[in-house]
Amino acid sequence: MAIANANLANQPGSIIVDDVSMVFNIASEQYNSLKEYFIALSRHKLRFKPFYALKDISFSIKPGESVGLVGTNGSGKSTMLKIIAGVLSPSEGTVTVNGNIAPLIELGAGFDHELTARENIYLNGALLGYRKEFIDENYQRIVEFAELQDFMEMPLKNYSSGMVARIAFAIATITEPDLLIVDEALSVGDQFFREKCERRISELVESKNVTVLFVSHSVEQVKRVCERCIWIEKGNLRMDGPAAEVADAYAHMER
Ligand SMILES: Nc1ncnc2c1ncn2[C@@H]1O[C@H](COP(=O)(O)OP(=O)(O)OP(=O)(O)O)[C@@H](O)[C@H]1O
Ligand SMILES: [Mg+2]
Repeated sequence: MAIANANLANQPGSIIVDDVSMVFNIASEQYNSLKEYFIALSRHKLRFKPFYALKDISFSIKPGESVGLVGTNGSGKSTMLKIIAGVLSPSEGTVTVNGNIAPLIELGAGFDHELTARENIYLNGALLGYRKEFIDENYQRIVEFAELQDFMEMPLKNYSSGMVARIAFAIATITEPDLLIVDEALSVGDQFFREKCERRISELVESKNVTVLFVSHSVEQVKRVCERCIWIEKGNLRMDGPAAEVADAYAHMER
């Protein structure tokens, strides 16, 4: 395993998650008002208990694999994606990511809602590491993919959530990143845009060898888009295997 991972770590598009745990400190007592909270805070009487959002998670993903991540609400999927994208550092364990990553993790992250959509394309593009000239050259393609030609001079705060998702997806996938990470950002898009995104993701995986890690609450979508699926349940890795098998096991779990 160690030797196989050492080889994998040098390949653009690979992800190695090694024994990762994430602990959050959550308040162990209930405070009925903000005043009570601040009194406890000032007296250093706030008590916290550790909460494991992820426990000893290990998996590795090869370049060009399309992997779905499933699990019930609060199971740690977004936390896992944030650790892989480098937004959070794990409490224990290590994550090795090789290659440039296009993360679509939180809707509107990397946008300034006071700026227009056009300005946000440049801002978000810069955050993804694109040069201004590159965005100049590709601006029209981004706008056309999002199908929002008439709304480019409008401030983003007046956009609907689906419109924001369209812009975010169009920017993130205008190039071929080594890794594309998508956290349900698409689920607010309408059916037609979701289908368009799925086609773009499949194209990136099949012809460009992009690695895709995709959180979804739609078992059918996971089966359509992914070849492999990882099921994380309440912080534990429950199953990792062929998408259809894992997604079906998840859909039929005992509750
Ligand atoms: N910053 C934080 N501080 C404290 N607890 C947190 C923090 N971020 C996440 N958690 C907790 O970690 C757990 C996992 O959250 P996470 O957002 O990763 O779940 P998820 O699998 O993405 O759920 P969903 O399907 O609802 O999106 C939850 O119990 C959540 O409350
Ligand atoms: Mg989530």
